[in-house]
Amino acid sequence: MKLIALLLSISTLVNAQDLLKNVVPFRLGASVNPRLLAENEAYRNIASNEFTSMTAENHMKMMLIHPAADRFDFSKGDEIVAFAEKTGKRMHGHTLVWHNQVPQWMKDFQGDQKAWEAMLKNHIQTVVTHYKGRVSGWDVVNESFLDDGSLRPSLWADHIPDYIAKSFQWAHEADPNATLFYNDYGQDGHPKKMQAILDLVADLQKRKIPIHGLGLQMHINVDSKRAEIQEVISKSVQTGLSIHFSELDIAVNPKNNPEYSYEASAQNELFTFVFKAYGAIPAKQQYGITFWNVTDKDSWLRGYFKRPKEYPLLFDETYVKKQGYHTLVNFLQHAK
Ligand code: G3I
Repeated sequence: MKLIALLLSISTLVNAQDLLKNVVPFRLGASVNPRLLAENEAYRNIASNEFTSMTAENHMKMMLIHPAADRFDFSKGDEIVAFAEKTGKRMHGHTLVWHNQVPQWMKDFQGDQKAWEAMLKNHIQTVVTHYKGRVSGWDVVNESFLDDGSLRPSLWADHIPDYIAKSFQWAHEADPNATLFYNDYGQDGHPKKMQAILDLVADLQKRKIPIHGLGLQMHINVDSKRAEIQEVISKSVQTGLSIHFSELDIAVNPKNNPEYSYEASAQNELFTFVFKAYGAIPAKQQYGITFWNVTDKDSWLRGYFKRPKEYPLLFDETYVKKQGYHTLVNFLQHAK
């Protein structure tokens, strides 16, 4: 009996070492969909076993969490938080202020600047207060700049001058312990966008506005330039803020070629590069790496973008670990 127990514990040990989350010294996350968590056992098991941090892919966004002026719907967000707590994970909040997925009632909102500010403040503070102590960090403001570095036109930019700083202030008032992020994509290849973000951070820091982190979404593809990615990471690290690779996926068929047949090697190498580059960030600035959903089948690139021949994640459509997963684990085990 003792021998069997010993063999079992050795095999658990070996398996544990083979898990990606166990070979990285930082949080490993995934964004999740509550319907899949509830209905799909394979999805739920991977979400449960493979990650140490969780983000709601959609269900904490304005449109879903605040569907009417006088009504918040926390039901799905709460389900995800309960799952994260039950399985011992950190919960990351995404996202309080965005130009996208805005409910119709906000688009129709009428009022002067004071009324707009009161409306946005109420949104931010009700959501942050609801999750106070249960959500560790928030993407307070998402995607405020265009690729040319100019402020993106949006409801918020149109009606609330200095809305970014105000949003951080309001979120901080509601939960002074939460780590507050500015989150954006495509800084690589768009130096003016990167610079606009760095200028924003410098301005907020100068004004003592509480910003604690930068989310680099990392929706990249096999043609993304490593030197550009590295430069974005280095510049972001220099701010001294926490760095979150917040929505990682690597597209292999960005032009949506219908004849495309999956070839993993370039993607595997880029995943390895991304993890290596993240590993070189000072430990106190490592908030973690979060994948944007769990398996290729669940990726927004297939659903939202309607690119059926896209394979951007580390688990395949049959919920099996891809070669890239093992390559990465192997690399990280030997990099230690
Ligand atoms: O659930 C509804 C369904 O009831 C309805 O019938 C259907 C018809 O349109 O829509 C479904 O909702 C969709 C939702 O995803 C859930 O699948 C929305 O239309 C669709 O717009 C939404 O897309 C999300 C997208 O943000 C919206 O811009 C993606 O899932 C989500 O992955 C994506 O996430 C964003 C991050 O928040 C910010 N960074 C970029 C990233 C990728 O776009």
